[in-house]
Amino acid sequence: MAGGVHPPSRETILRCTGSNFSLRGNVNLFDLALPFARLLDPEDAHRLAIRGLSALPQRPPPADDARLKVEAFGLTFPNPLGLAAGFDKNAEVPDAMLSLGFGFVECGTLTPRPQTGNPRPRIFRLPDDRGVINRLGFNNEGFAPAVARLKSRVRRGIVGANLGANKDTADRTDDYVDGIKTFAPHADYLTINISSPNTPGLRDLQAAEALDDLLARALEARDSAGTRKPVLLKIAPDLSLPELDDVVKVARARRVDGMIVSNTTVSRPDFLRDVNRKESGGLSGKPLFDLSTRMLARTYIRVENQFPLIGVGGIDSAETAWKKIRAGATLLQLYSGMVYRGFGLVDEIKSGLLSRLNAAGGPSLAANIGLDARDLAAEP
Ligand SMILES: Cc1cc2nc3c(=O)[nH]c(=O)nc-3n(C[C@H](O)[C@H](O)[C@H](O)COP(=O)(O)O)c2cc1C
Repeated sequence: MAGGVHPPSRETILRCTGSNFSLRGNVNLFDLALPFARLLDPEDAHRLAIRGLSALPQRPPPADDARLKVEAFGLTFPNPLGLAAGFDKNAEVPDAMLSLGFGFVECGTLTPRPQTGNPRPRIFRLPDDRGVINRLGFNNEGFAPAVARLKSRVRRGIVGANLGANKDTADRTDDYVDGIKTFAPHADYLTINISSPNTPGLRDLQAAEALDDLLARALEARDSAGTRKPVLLKIAPDLSLPELDDVVKVARARRVDGMIVSNTTVSRPDFLRDVNRKESGGLSGKPLFDLSTRMLARTYIRVENQFPLIGVGGIDSAETAWKKIRAGATLLQLYSGMVYRGFGLVDEIKSGLLSRLNAAGGPSLAANIGLDARDLAAEP
């Protein structure tokens, strides 16, 4: 551009924004708003996306190929691909996300009382690495508005509630018990999130004794709620192997219904190049894939089919989704991949999984779960 100002590169735009959603089909309106959203701070852009999604006309989820169906935790999922916690923290758009093709949606993390989280800026894109760093710190509106939304929705798909503890709470375990009681009647499953790196001390609940007490009380609350909703445990990818041994031992002994592997990492792999790599917080997206997939495989081996696992961390293609299944995932979740690849990624992954089944994978995804777990778990 002779004599002119160069327009910002795609990478610069990505670094400055939190939304690069290329919505398909029924949500083309979003494409029109994208150039404006990209001028905004990541959180403002995300907020705008949530607003737009909540204004969409209610549509039932699209029908999926029967071979993508998954039975787990006593629930029937139309396909294995879920929206990970953190995108719809306040349960504002679960049905819009289901209508985009997700097989299930996890809302939250929700804490009993509203909290503002850490000061902004607190979400950073790493476009050079296709990663995201966040240090949000459980910003959310609290239980009440979310439970009211879940209560009033017409149930057309599986929606889970991811539960956390307030930063300044006197007893963290009480907050989880409170969450189980509050959401058990209105969510299809409940996730105990003790793996966020952005609430100081929260991950200490992964230590054997604390975890045993937490699970005992949480599961008792679930049982006395009379609903027997599945309770899942979401863990960090940064646990040492002895720590993972303990977590799985306790989870098995207490009979949780499943585990989610994994949350974001506080580690910073040497290969990161982006200028934002030094920001503090949890790293997600492509740079998390290997670490979280290895952790998934190691968890799968230790669980010995006592309950199913949800694999999450760095899924951004059918290939990475397939790898998670072969590492031990019965179900999948993603968040950061969508930030870079748009909502169209959902359909792309589902059709890619079907192609893999057609090519060699047999009649169902289930036949492929954990086939590579031993090899992956053995990696240094
Ligand atoms: C901006 C952002 C906010 C998140 N918030 C939460 C959260 O509130 N609770 C939670 O359990 N995980 C949260 N996560 C973690 C994701 O659910 C997921 O475990 C992690 O990002 C790895 O998946 P991904 O690589 O597909 O993003 C968040 C992730 C991002 C990027």
